[in-house]
Amino acid sequence: SSIHTLLKQLPKCEHHIHLEGALSPQLLFQLAEKNTITLPQDDEAFKTPESLLERYERFTSLDDFLGYYYIGMSALITASDFEALAWDYFQHASADGVHHAEVFFDPQAHTSRNVAYPTVIQGFQAACERAEKELGITTILTACYLRHLPPAESLEMFQSPEVQESYRNGTVKGIGLDSSEMNFPPHLFEDLYRGAKELGLRRTAHAGEEGPVSYISSALTILNAERIDHGIQLAQDDVLLKQIADQGTLLTVCPLSNVVLRCVKSVSEVPIRKFLDHGVKFSLNSDDPAYFGGHILDNYCAVHDAFELSVSEWESVCRAGIEGSWCSEERKTEML
Ligand code: HPA
Ligand code: ZN
Repeated sequence: SSIHTLLKQLPKCEHHIHLEGALSPQLLFQLAEKNTITLPQDDEAFKTPESLLERYERFTSLDDFLGYYYIGMSALITASDFEALAWDYFQHASADGVHHAEVFFDPQAHTSRNVAYPTVIQGFQAACERAEKELGITTILTACYLRHLPPAESLEMFQSPEVQESYRNGTVKGIGLDSSEMNFPPHLFEDLYRGAKELGLRRTAHAGEEGPVSYISSALTILNAERIDHGIQLAQDDVLLKQIADQGTLLTVCPLSNVVLRCVKSVSEVPIRKFLDHGVKFSLNSDDPAYFGGHILDNYCAVHDAFELSVSEWESVCRAGIEGSWCSEERKTEML
């Protein structure tokens, strides 16, 4: 329909996409074979790419998904594997009308299986450069730290010479916090976020996806996060909601992810209307497109089907996304 044409044409920014979550079952099987990585034999889901995709329709929680997510990325070994993965994502993003993409990756999930950090960076950086040159998409790489691992390990990673070099030379511009949320409150990572702020890095954190709304406030006050990833539990606290609206903090909302991981029963339960009515700024994002059944435009369409935003509301959603991006003011002006 014409609204879907409009949604495709709007200048979209994506702020919440884990590159490892863009690994399609097809590419996963192809890389596993090339790299002679054995996939779990005791799980029927790993028989074929098709059976794996079917299993992805039956996630029961964030942790159920994360089990598959960490196995999937075990197929990624060489710089060219990481480049192929990110390039696959950027092509989808371009087809969906993304102008600017701020992409997450999980360094600890690779170094812990002896894939060197510079290998990961080399592959992702090559794909980012190609996306800028061939697709006109500007990009920012953000390194997420895994909250299910001891905070001391995240600090060790952050302080390692290779990681420091990638921050110093501008290859990686931000930090995030992801993986299992429940029982891993933000305050555990206070030292990490203080270090990031001192280096002048941008800061975001997953909060209020499965976890309580108190994790959103502590991500803001203790971690000094500039943005909140997901943040849908904000609808439970009208005082904090008003504060976030007044501050103009951007939430990076991922509606299809929330349904597939059973944080909500349907897209209509994502508090989009409440956020709009109260002036809470948000962007719409795919999170892990290969696992959650859709890329960014599918998320836009699902929100439209559930909430029927007006054209001017859609334009203001995209404007908030541009203004809340971490690119230069000059680039923002180009997109507006
Ligand atoms: N939540 C937390 N960690 C993640 C996610 C998510 O949706 N995707 C990849 N890592
Ligand atoms: Zn996420």
